[in-house]
Amino acid sequence: MSTLENLSCPIDSLSLSRDGRSLKCENGHTYDLAKTGYVNLLPVQNKRSKDPGDSKSMVAARQAFLNQHFYYPIVEAILSSWPKESLINGVRVLDAGCGEGYYLNEISKVLQDRHVETELTGLDISKWAITAASKRDKNISWLVGSNASLPTPDQRFDVILCLFGFPIFHEFSRVLTDSGLLLLVESGPDHLIELRKILYPQIHDYKQTHSDGVADFEMVSEETKTFHFTLNSQAEIQNLLSMTPHIHKASYDGKEEVKQLESIRLTADIKLRWYQKKGNT
Ligand SMILES: C[S@@+](CC[C@H](N)C(=O)[O-])C[C@H]1O[C@@H](n2cnc3c(N)ncnc32)[C@H](O)[C@@H]1O
Ligand SMILES: [Zn+2]
Repeated sequence: MSTLENLSCPIDSLSLSRDGRSLKCENGHTYDLAKTGYVNLLPVQNKRSKDPGDSKSMVAARQAFLNQHFYYPIVEAILSSWPKESLINGVRVLDAGCGEGYYLNEISKVLQDRHVETELTGLDISKWAITAASKRDKNISWLVGSNASLPTPDQRFDVILCLFGFPIFHEFSRVLTDSGLLLLVESGPDHLIELRKILYPQIHDYKQTHSDGVADFEMVSEETKTFHFTLNSQAEIQNLLSMTPHIHKASYDGKEEVKQLESIRLTADIKLRWYQKKGNT
């Protein structure tokens, strides 16, 4: 069972303790566990929209795509680039914006096989994503919450993973231990380039994110992972398209052209950057 321990009330930051199928703070704020074992720590007043984050259909498309393991090389790249000194028994990991949990679940399986004991937490602002994730692995603590205001005390984690997500660096710094690690995974210049060439009349120049550095962190390694995969049906192509921003941004004509495809060979081009939290001195 997941621990759901050492979390804090999103309203007053008091520590939460387990009371049967609820978490409670001393001020009486109560958060019930859902049937599948996750807990929603995103209070109504912190919601910018009624149904924030990825929608039910986006989550379903992402899950259908990822479950076919086209992106498993990214799991391997995360594990092989992970600084060895922090891949140790007892490591506490937060996947911030974990989506429907594919990556954290696959990482958990590999680390179990290697007999590395971990304490894993997956958090996402989308209740649809966390509902799906919580069905994958009951040993992981799954939380609905926001990166902008993480429902945990300071220095709660040793490692934060932010995969194709929305990093909030001052919050990540707050909840990481001194010299804790942060991994940012993002797409590189050639990511899905074959699809983008169909979707857009013109491909814009690639702009590296955080090229001026990241406040509170220093970069310890950077690597690029490139691989190819082939989608062999229109359903697979639509699943991929639905989990990318292109579904909203691409031209009507481009999307119509993609609808005619029966298969496509694609390039995945991924950047992995590990950062270490800077000390207070
Ligand atoms: C592109 S998806 C990536 C999901 C997952 N990391 C993956 O790679 O499969 C971005 C995710 O960030 C979530 N998200 C958006 N804003 C967020 C926030 N403020 N805090 C936490 N998650 C957020 C969305 O609901 C969505 O699941
Ligand atoms: Zn409270």
